[in-house]
Formats: sequence, structure tokens, C-alpha cells
Amino acid sequence: MPARRLSEAVLQEAVRLLEVHGSNRAAAAALGISRSAFQHRIARAQVSKDPPETGAASEMPFIPAQLRKTGVFLLTAAQDETAIHAPLWENMQAYAAHRGAEILIGGFTYQKGLFEDHAVVTARYRPELIPFLQPRVIELGPNIVWYGAANILPTTSNPLAGWQTQTREKWAVFPHAKIALETVPVMPGRRPKQIMTSGVVTLPNYVQRNAGQKAEFHHTLGFTIVEVDGDGDHFCRQVSAEPDGSFQDLDVRVDSGQVSEGHRVKAINPPDMHGEHMPQERASVIWDLGLQTMTCGGKGLIDVLRPQYQFVDDSFTFSARNHHTRDDPHEKAWRIAEGNSSVQENIRAASRIMAAAQRPWCRTVHKASNHNLALDRWLKDAAGASDPGNAYYWHHLNSVWHEAIRRGDRDFQVHAYALQQEDPGLLAQVKFLREGESFLICGQSGSPIECGLHSHVGARGSRSAQSLRRIVERVNAGHTHEAKIVDGLYFTGKGFDEADAFAQRGPGGWADALIVTYRSGKRSLVTPWNGKWRG
Ligand SMILES: [Fe+2]
Ligand SMILES: [Fe+2]
Repeated sequence: MPARRLSEAVLQEAVRLLEVHGSNRAAAAALGISRSAFQHRIARAQVSKDPPETGAASEMPFIPAQLRKTGVFLLTAAQDETAIHAPLWENMQAYAAHRGAEILIGGFTYQKGLFEDHAVVTARYRPELIPFLQPRVIELGPNIVWYGAANILPTTSNPLAGWQTQTREKWAVFPHAKIALETVPVMPGRRPKQIMTSGVVTLPNYVQRNAGQKAEFHHTLGFTIVEVDGDGDHFCRQVSAEPDGSFQDLDVRVDSGQVSEGHRVKAINPPDMHGEHMPQERASVIWDLGLQTMTCGGKGLIDVLRPQYQFVDDSFTFSARNHHTRDDPHEKAWRIAEGNSSVQENIRAASRIMAAAQRPWCRTVHKASNHNLALDRWLKDAAGASDPGNAYYWHHLNSVWHEAIRRGDRDFQVHAYALQQEDPGLLAQVKFLREGESFLICGQSGSPIECGLHSHVGARGSRSAQSLRRIVERVNAGHTHEAKIVDGLYFTGKGFDEADAFAQRGPGGWADALIVTYRSGKRSLVTPWNGKWRG
């Protein structure tokens, strides 16, 4: 049945009420109609403003954030002339109702021009989706944009290519079926921005040729949730659905239209630890850990998500005698000025955090990372034997290492020994992986995730972390300090710490971000900010 035509006056009144009330929900209540009906009017009102002849993406109306100061949004994409994944659509609506969220959909076309014939909200999309279509550029909060007008080709291998600067300093979510996330560098001291794709609510519908078959492999049912809080801070997560349309977002599961809370996750990959320089804010957000008392309050991210595993990358920086700076006379002077000249103190600081961060229901898995292996390098350098403040420790660790050689223990790792020595309780509780040792999780999903790689060593021994995107397994990695999703490879991020001045020589993308892996094998990146990790 054709939709009833709405008069221009009715549409203008809908826009006015949205401006007055600030949200679809409140404006719909004022009119005495359902929120979906109100969203339909707003969508119609915005379509009626389209330029009559062109309507190219760059000419789309820009809807500013003043209309939406706070809120929760579920953003997804839909292909024209394509069936919906009905169970996912039902679950998304249930989750939207649970969170009081608005659903925004960006349409994309595979072979026909989305904006050439203005068929966006008439016949090409499934009628259930039409009230939610938002092929516009919309500010969801002070610093985040929905770029619903992008209409990116679904078969492109890198959907974010070329979009890095389009929204300047503002984060952006683009409708696309392939999950991708990229950090865009900024000058030191400012928060790097992320751009990401949304996931899709329509079923795979590709031409079965080269590009289409590859795109189908990366077709990811799901959506991106954006939460904007009262401070104007935003938090985004890409939520991937399982084949039956169910999904988990943090500790919330939605299945068959039912929302339930308190679900555990499989694993978290926090930012590289770099324990001797751990900032209090990071310790508070993830473990609710006070660095002065070394006690946890039980309200950290880990206590909400209750992961089965947590992974440790670069547990210590080895800043007291790192090979990058230990022969630099001025850096040596800095270490003295900072009171940071003791190798053992570096390792002790990391060990204490690892001990305090443990939970009885979570296995801690430590990856042999490049900063851990800097200890090996120092122990091979005879200069350590005549370093007055560290000579005793240098000789001690070398003697233990040689004892291991004498007994034929090729599994001995001196950094693991050194960490364990500072807190013997760690010995039984932490799994120390060797460099290059595999640790797979989520094998039952049919596509296990390799969690043993820090990524300082790439495929075939290269130094390219990104080369890990093309190994057999999916990968959760650290090391780059820059949040990123490329194909099946996820990177955590780590913000600047007090000792990272050397890396602040120009624009960069360092910022805290964690990988959350669900039991289904689906993953999200969580990016804390201002002492918070969700909205
Ligand atoms: Fe590293
Ligand atoms: Fe690191």
C-alpha cells in the first residue's frame, strides 16, 4: 500500500518540534505519535530538502549536533533491492528500545546511483527500513558524525580509503558492509580521531565474480553503537551479529528479540601495559586499580565484562636501560633526574600491576613483547656488568639464565623469571607465552583468533605488523599503540605516557583502545576517554 503523502506543513512542524525537544522520542510524545512514525516524518522532511537535480553526497544537508546533545544511536547500512536479515533487524529494534536509541541507516547501491534518481526512500529499499534511512551527514554529538551520504562501493577492499580528512577533527561512522576502523593522526596532546564503518542489516547480495566473492567474505551483519553522554563525550563500538542475528554488546546479549544483561566475554586485550609508566586513569578505567595502594575497587571494565582471558603486551618498557637511549648522554641524565635508573624497579612496577590486575575468574596471558626482549639484549651487553646501580641484578639474571642453559631448559624466558621473582604468586597464575608461541581462542566459532602475537614480528619475520592481516588466523595484536581494524586483524591502542616524549615528534595516532572478544568470536574495539569507557 502506498504511503500516505504528508503535507509540507506537517513536515515543517516535525522539524520544529525536534529542534524544541531535542530528541525524536520527546518530539513524538509531544505530537502524540509513535517514535518510528515521527522518524518517518523527519526522514521525509529531510528528503524534501534535496536539491532537485543533483543531490550529490557533498550537497547533502548537514544536520548539526545542536539537535542532539546526548543520545544513543544504532548505525547500520542497507543495500538497495536486497532482503533484510530479519532476526537481526528484530534484535536491533529490541536493543534500540532497551537503550532508548535511534536507528539510522545509510543506504548504498551496488550497481545503480543512489542519488541520481532520488529513489532512496521510495521503492528500492525494504519498506521497514524507509523510516530509518538517513543518507545525510549528521552530527551525533559535538565531535562525531554519521556520514550516511557516503554510498561507498560495497566491493571496495578498503572502505575508509580517502575519507580520513573528510570530517576534519570529528570522528565519523560510514555505512558499509565490511568492518574497518582507522585512527587518523593529530598533533601530540590532542585526542586522535577514529573513522569506522557501520556493519550492515541486509543479506549478502553480490555479483559472483572476483570482487563480489571477496566482498561477501567480509560482509558483516551488525551495526555501530554510538553513545553521547552529558559531557558531550562519545563512545563507539562496532557490534557484529552472529549468523542467527543475535549479538552481544559489552555484557548485553540480544537474542530472538529479548535483551538480557550480565553476560561474560571471552577475552580483553588492554593497551600495552608499559607498567612503570602506567597512568592512573588507565589503571582506574580497566581494573579500578589505585596505583598508590595497589588495590582494586571492583568496578573496572574487567569487572563488568568478566573476561575468561586478559592479555598483557609490553608489560614493562625497560626505560631505565633501553637500548634506544642508554648510550645517549642526555637521556642518561634524564633517567637520573627522573629517579628511573633501576632495571629491577622497572620490572617490579610491572609485576605489581600484573598481580593487582588479576581476577580469580580470569586467566592472565603474557606475550613476549619487544620491550620484554630488550631485557635479553641488555643482559648480552657486557656494559651492564659495570653499571653500578644495576650490576648486581645484571649478574644475578645472567647467572639464572646460564643455569637454565646448563639444565637444557630452552623454554626459559628471563623476563618471565624476573617478573615472577618480584611476586612469586604470579608463577602459578600467569601464562607466559614465548615469542612466536600460539594462543588461539574462539576455535568453536570456526574461525579462531590468534592472541599470541604482540606484532613486533610480522609474517615471514618481517617488521610489518599489518602483514598479519594475511595469515590464516584472525589476530588480536598490540604494539602499534594505534587502534585499527584491517580485515581480520585488530590492533589495540595505547595513549602517551610520561615516558613517551621521544615518540611525540609529530602527528600520531596513539590513544587507549581495548579489543573485547565475545564467546561467539565477534569483536569490538572499546576506546576509553576522560576516565570513562562507555556512555
Ligand atoms: Fe611493542
Ligand atoms: Fe608497546
